[in-house]
Amino acid sequence: MNRKELLKAIDKKYEAMGQNPDVHLSGLLHAEPMTYWDFAQVDALLGLQTQRTQLPDEMVFIMYHQINELLFKMILWEIGQVSHEENIEPDKFVKHLMRVSRYFDVLSGSFDVMGEGMDVDQYMKFRDTLTPASGFQSAQYRQIEIASTELINLIDMRFRDNIDRDTPYEHAFEHMYWQAAGKDFKTGKKNALLVNFEKRYKKELIDFMKDYNKVNLWTKFKQLPESYQKNVDLVNAMRHYDHTVNIDWVMHHYHAAAKYLDSGKGNAEATGGSDWHKYMHPKYQRRIFFPELWSEDELKNWGIDNIEGYKTLSEI
Ligand code: HEM
Repeated sequence: MNRKELLKAIDKKYEAMGQNPDVHLSGLLHAEPMTYWDFAQVDALLGLQTQRTQLPDEMVFIMYHQINELLFKMILWEIGQVSHEENIEPDKFVKHLMRVSRYFDVLSGSFDVMGEGMDVDQYMKFRDTLTPASGFQSAQYRQIEIASTELINLIDMRFRDNIDRDTPYEHAFEHMYWQAAGKDFKTGKKNALLVNFEKRYKKELIDFMKDYNKVNLWTKFKQLPESYQKNVDLVNAMRHYDHTVNIDWVMHHYHAAAKYLDSGKGNAEATGGSDWHKYMHPKYQRRIFFPELWSEDELKNWGIDNIEGYKTLSEI
């Protein structure tokens, strides 16, 4: 656009808003020049690391969690662009899915920052100060799951037969797989991990479930033309994403947790208090976003030996 066209476009934009374009041009004249630290909000970002102990490695723990939350936000941003577009073009679907997938690859591939990046002795001390907080209470992680698949795929296996599309959201929420981390299903009693989490996020998450009920990634995929749904590259990308979130990341997380909790130093309990060996293993949870894209054998063996070198549940 040349200068004349630019000015014309500016006039058009502000006149459409009932604003005087000259005032905005004058505003531009007086505006501060843009800087890196302004657009990236560096000062605010670097002011968010508050240690609760004097142990230096607590800083690694805090910052890596924050990096995860930022990437979770990037993932939700991309899913949102698929979900909130009516009649999405297949190429746009693929573009955003690949972005989401790459971000989760980063998360999975970087988990050694946790496993190798902290002294066990320090971790075993500062975890006591942070109890009963747990990454389990990450609402964005739950949102990613809810935005990726149909709710039924996130319901605890034991209750799936009694839950369908007509089940009230509240009831579905009470039977999400993650309840197993802290709920006694016989008495309904929940541990502090869950009580605190739900007090803060339950309402928000139920609203989120309603929002994504018909626009989650799986539903959007099913709305693509059949040729795309059968396209090998796209199906592989969907499978890759499913595998990265529900096996790769889960196993990296599991092994990092085991390095500390099974170190023989301090007690082996999770800060959140779950029966974590069982709770965190994909073989037990069998979380799968897109079950229709896996063969019967792959489904049967989910989390058992899909990744070389990882332990099976029976070996724990
Ligand atoms: C040494 C580092 C870590 C340890 C020992 C650890 C341990 C655990 C444990 C034991 C649980 C089960 C719930 C509980 O009882 O607390 C859990 C859940 C969880 N953690 Fe971590 N974690 C670590 C790092 C992280 C990081 C960096 C994140 C990134 C945000 C994270 C996110 C989560 C999430 C999302 C869950 C819930 C997963 C699910 O429901 O399957 N964790 N963690």
